[in-house]
Amino acid sequence: MTPVQRRELAYHEKLYSGFAQSHFARPAVRALRGHMAIRILRLTGAGPHSRVLSLGCGIGDTELLLAAHVREVVGIDLSPAAIRQARADAEKLDVSNARFEEGTSADGRFDTIIAVFFLHHLPDDELDRLPARLHTMLRPGGVFYSLDPSCDRLSGAVGRRLIPKLMKRYQTEDERELAPEPTADRFRRAGFETRLSIYDFGSSPLAGLFPGWAAGYGMARRLDDALLKTSWCRRRGSNFEVVARRKL
Ligand SMILES: C[S@@+](CC[C@H](N)C(=O)[O-])C[C@H]1O[C@@H](n2cnc3c(N)ncnc32)[C@H](O)[C@@H]1O
Repeated sequence: MTPVQRRELAYHEKLYSGFAQSHFARPAVRALRGHMAIRILRLTGAGPHSRVLSLGCGIGDTELLLAAHVREVVGIDLSPAAIRQARADAEKLDVSNARFEEGTSADGRFDTIIAVFFLHHLPDDELDRLPARLHTMLRPGGVFYSLDPSCDRLSGAVGRRLIPKLMKRYQTEDERELAPEPTADRFRRAGFETRLSIYDFGSSPLAGLFPGWAAGYGMARRLDDALLKTSWCRRRGSNFEVVARRKL
């Protein structure tokens, strides 16, 4: 294990020892996950025949929502606590086509690979090598999807000014916001047909700050959909998506 992975593991073992489970179960966060899952299905084209791999799946809450729409989901994560919770939730919800494994890589070939809030936890050298590795793990025509915080986001600048301690508490020592275009370029250079999009402006950070308020998330999401029609809001959006298709 690398020193970064050791630090990531220590942080996430603590996060997944109770706080994440109760926070992620709150209504606004559930609504956000539901929106994310539908969006991932639409952007990747994953469907009833798809084998889906999720990198850094955490406790598997997005993956368990996706499982109903695809053939199989495999989630991998460094954290044993996360994998224990994901397996327990799969059993409780009677989801039989989702499998969760401890680790940093998976065997086999997939139609879809997702990485939700994961790439920005990888050091630059690992991030540089990842697209070529994913290219070999995807079937021709297969699609990679990632979602990560943007270094240009207004919410980050505001949060660092108003609630710096809270921001730090929710971040590992090694994670950082990523630059959208250079991140997408890594996938283009590895031979993927790559598209960059902005997922949100303020709705996801608000779901984190006011997790009990599902109606608030719904309103903020609708406002985001309107705001993201302007190029200024897209430039200052919170989280960006890379959708990279392996050519046929
Ligand atoms: C911010 S969390 C995101 C978790 C989940 N995808 C979600 O949306 O809640 C990042 C996850 O990546 C995992 N992780 C960090 N580095 C990893 C690595 N090299 N390989 C596998 N998992 C890793 C952490 O344990 C953590 O669960």
